[in-house]
Amino acid sequence: MTARLIDGNALSQQLRADVAARAAALRARGTVPGLAVVLVGDNPASQVYVRNKVKACEDNGLHSVLERHPADLAEDALLARVDALNRDPAIHGILVQLPLPAHIDAQKVIEAIAPEKDVDGFHVASAGALMTGSAGFWPCTPYGCMKMLDSIGYDLRGKHAVVIGRSNIVGKPMALMLLARSATVTVCHSATADLGAFTRQADVVVAAVGKRNVLTADMVKPGAVVIDVGMNRDDAGKLCGDVDFAGVREVAGWITPVPGGVGPMTITMLLVNTLESAERAAGSGTSAST
Ligand code: GUN
Repeated sequence: MTARLIDGNALSQQLRADVAARAAALRARGTVPGLAVVLVGDNPASQVYVRNKVKACEDNGLHSVLERHPADLAEDALLARVDALNRDPAIHGILVQLPLPAHIDAQKVIEAIAPEKDVDGFHVASAGALMTGSAGFWPCTPYGCMKMLDSIGYDLRGKHAVVIGRSNIVGKPMALMLLARSATVTVCHSATADLGAFTRQADVVVAAVGKRNVLTADMVKPGAVVIDVGMNRDDAGKLCGDVDFAGVREVAGWITPVPGGVGPMTITMLLVNTLESAERAAGSGTSAST
């Protein structure tokens, strides 16, 4: 059996069309949804990411502000900028691109963002809201993975989901989102003994490690859903995920490609969160990430 593809580009297009329509409706009522993207230093990958985020805003009717600061910006100065953006009524979402230079305490900066503008979902209040099932922003990458599962009509109730990776940005929030849908969740990580023993039992595997070939065909149950969050380069310099795509697609039931899978969904969910924040500010938002 060859797995069916979950196309992140196609799903993103659908969701972005909905964002654009909702943004137009908000604008017609006098609110322009606004995202501030803050970049400190000149990390080449970060520059590409922030450019893509700003462009996605422009393409879908959201206002965006890109603030670029030199790598030697003082932590206090960055905190003062975040404070100003917290107070700016034209800004509904604040994203400080990570990683930050080593002299800046990234967690301190994240905690300085007003939770109601934390569209990255990294603030401790957002993490707490996800854990307790209350209203707050969900981190964009795992949120996008949930939308991909929804797009194939997958019912997680009673299924075994294995998450590989335990980062605050993907692995941990992913596990909580799957749990909230009544999956039985196992979180595996770099110290897990015999990863394959877990993944072979999984109905759903989410690989979020940042290393090639973490999941190979012999580690996958026939028919399983495989979501690949990885973004790596192979020996030829070509973009690849954490999953051995060629091998695993012959065993899995569904699989996300890299590129064209989770990647575009991350930016799409950033737009969704920013729009949701603007709708809440304008008094027309729903109560929580769904
Ligand atoms: N760096 C890599 N991914 C992300 C992300 O999703 N948000 C932010 N703020 N920084 C990142």
